[in-house]
Amino acid sequence: MINIDAKNHVSGKSVYVDDIKEIRGTLFALPFDLPTAHAKITGLDLSSARTLPGIVSILTAKDIPGDNQIGVAVPDEPLFADKEVHFSGQTAGIIIGVTEHACRLARREIGFSFEQLTPVTCPRQAMKQGMLIVPPRTFRIGNTDDAWSRCDHIVSGTVEINGQEHIYMETQGSYAYLKEDGCIFVASSTQAPTAVQWAIARVLGIEMHRIEVDTVRIGGGFGGKEDQATAWAVMAALAAVKTGMPVKLILHRMDDIRMTGKRNPYSSDFRIGLGNDLKIMAYEVTHYQNAGASADLSPAILERTLFHSTNSYCIPNVTATAYSCRTNLPPNTAFRGFGGPQGMFVIESAIVRAAETIGVSPDEIQKANLIKDGDEMPYGQVMQETHATDSWAEAERRYSLSEVKNRVAEFNSHSDTHKKGFAVQPICFGISFTNTMMNHARALVHIYKDGSVVVSTGAVEMGQGVNTKLLQVASAEFGISHERVKIESTNTLRIANTSPTAASSGADLNGKALKIACTNLRERLAEVAKQTLECEEVVFANETISDNTRKKSISWKELVNMAQQQRVPLSEHSHYATPGIHFDRTKEKGHPFAYHVYGTAIIEATVDCLRGTYLIDSVRIVHDFGKSMNADVDHGQIEGGVVQGIGWMTMEEVMFDDKGKLLTSALSTYKIPDIYSVPAVIEIHHLDSPGSDLAIYKSKAVGEPPLMYALGAYFAIRKAVQAFNKGAEPAISVPYTPEKVLFDLYGKKTL
Ligand code: MTE
Ligand code: HPA
Ligand code: MOS
Repeated sequence: MINIDAKNHVSGKSVYVDDIKEIRGTLFALPFDLPTAHAKITGLDLSSARTLPGIVSILTAKDIPGDNQIGVAVPDEPLFADKEVHFSGQTAGIIIGVTEHACRLARREIGFSFEQLTPVTCPRQAMKQGMLIVPPRTFRIGNTDDAWSRCDHIVSGTVEINGQEHIYMETQGSYAYLKEDGCIFVASSTQAPTAVQWAIARVLGIEMHRIEVDTVRIGGGFGGKEDQATAWAVMAALAAVKTGMPVKLILHRMDDIRMTGKRNPYSSDFRIGLGNDLKIMAYEVTHYQNAGASADLSPAILERTLFHSTNSYCIPNVTATAYSCRTNLPPNTAFRGFGGPQGMFVIESAIVRAAETIGVSPDEIQKANLIKDGDEMPYGQVMQETHATDSWAEAERRYSLSEVKNRVAEFNSHSDTHKKGFAVQPICFGISFTNTMMNHARALVHIYKDGSVVVSTGAVEMGQGVNTKLLQVASAEFGISHERVKIESTNTLRIANTSPTAASSGADLNGKALKIACTNLRERLAEVAKQTLECEEVVFANETISDNTRKKSISWKELVNMAQQQRVPLSEHSHYATPGIHFDRTKEKGHPFAYHVYGTAIIEATVDCLRGTYLIDSVRIVHDFGKSMNADVDHGQIEGGVVQGIGWMTMEEVMFDDKGKLLTSALSTYKIPDIYSVPAVIEIHHLDSPGSDLAIYKSKAVGEPPLMYALGAYFAIRKAVQAFNKGAEPAISVPYTPEKVLFDLYGKKTL
């Protein structure tokens, strides 16, 4: 089935927040900030801005009727900076005007006075000053202290991982207007409508039942709208309440890049110990996470870094510690993989450094340590239905790893100006929110008397195709055509208390809830059909309900109409909560994940050794989809994830100056992958795997895991660099931009 949004997307008919037809009198809101990353605010002069034509109002912290607070995990995030500024781009208030342009002119007229404080941008520096967001966490298995003496090889090192800007195509935005009795309608480009509803209630000092948040779809989120869509929706709602008029707030791209947080940068130290048989015996890692100025989702991201600190490997002795460090950068946030990619990049770096030191190929170490059924992870989960070894074996065979090695060696022996490198990249990603209480969802299904069906769930469509999958569930359960089913917007009046659409679990959680609702409705309809057809069993298929001999039948439309006449309820609201998962944070042990997604990729790259530029030639993947319910949608997720990951690993360079000012605040200075940097070959093979009963229709979650195949892009380029500059041991620092590659091609040993 093709993605139900495809036609409207390519013809420009899909409606995003900024496309909603404006109600007459709509005003526009624009956030303003101070030109500093860390300061005490001593004065704000709004007088001349207020008098400009078209300016209706300017709101600051003192205009907030409820709490000036939107922090969820930790209440450390004011909506409007009041006494202090903690990062460059922190909103101090909003300008409301009749046009956006009027607001922009007024923004230039705002006067500030402040006492400059020293900004901290480096997580290790923040750690030294005791600036931690939450207490550190340590995951442990075995005993690393005892293990070192038994190791034949011990290698240690440091890894620097930079952030990543989301560049969702639709920037952050919201449109809010008043209904009656102080009730508010808020359209928001958010992954988390309930989070928006909750924050608006808190800031306005009203109850959640007065606030309707509605999300038709979003133009990409990638984690950047899990928490950080909230502020803009709250501002629009506040402005609507204060002015009594509809208010639209859509961030300009450059404001969006400057004012919102990104993927968390990490600085990490590792120590890895192996036996002569290449078995990893001990691994110690310390992560310094750059959280930015407030907690946002960083504590949860930190936790997932620890969960994925050994990627797809079984290591008997592990000590993994992580510090969430408060700096004067915009609060960093969820980004596809949610801390997992950082944890996995560090273990992969450790393996590569060990391989370079011992003098073997990294894939020999990787292969010798893959997880098998029955292995216990540092967090206590005993792994079952693993696919680390079979996806590896299938990739090795199907894509002929030995031929890849020969081809690369052969090419390198003949070419002086270009060198090739390759890497094998296994992945193992846990599916479920790491916070167990978030793993639940609801669905609301109405069958109208004409036989048409409308479905609401808590899932937000962000391009990942969740609505297409939900539609497939409803039409399959009822045995009716796709055209009969409409997936409605995500709306807090129809579905309450939702978790964000995140953790790759949108289709699983909401699909399972929807399946329950449809099953209940079908069973009710089946009773009516059995009476009518005078039989014991009925089958729903092809818009027809038949007895099991298929001699007698009734159409879907007739049956629905009949059921309605008989006063059978044709609506159902259902709830699903993932069974069997738990985690004890006092012991750091449990069974947090419903299941894991596995796969193995082989990545090849070519470096131009005169210029330092490179191409990722191919990414060939064997992926554990389980039983994919929509191969086209799932392949789209893999291709997108891989390319987004390659961008992070190679070219996307977020740069702040030492005062905390963002230097890469536009797409002229922040380079994301374009069609020319996409690998010429992305090959995807479905591993023959049974899937999990906890995945919807055994079709495993696919949103985030493929991003991590791209970690191999770094290691493939590194290999090519070392083929040119023999013996070079470049410092590990991503993104591996052409500038860094060029230095490493001609530099001495840098580690
Ligand atoms: N794909 C598209 N096109 N746009 C997105 O914003 N977000 C990713 C992934 N794929 C995203 C995407 C992230 S971060 C997550 S968690 C999942 O989709 C969320 O959707 P799912 O839970 O339905 O997989
Ligand atoms: N993944 C994504 N988003 C989240 C998670 C998670 O594990 N926990 C809380 N928000
Ligand atoms: Mo995805 S980072 O869990 O929104």
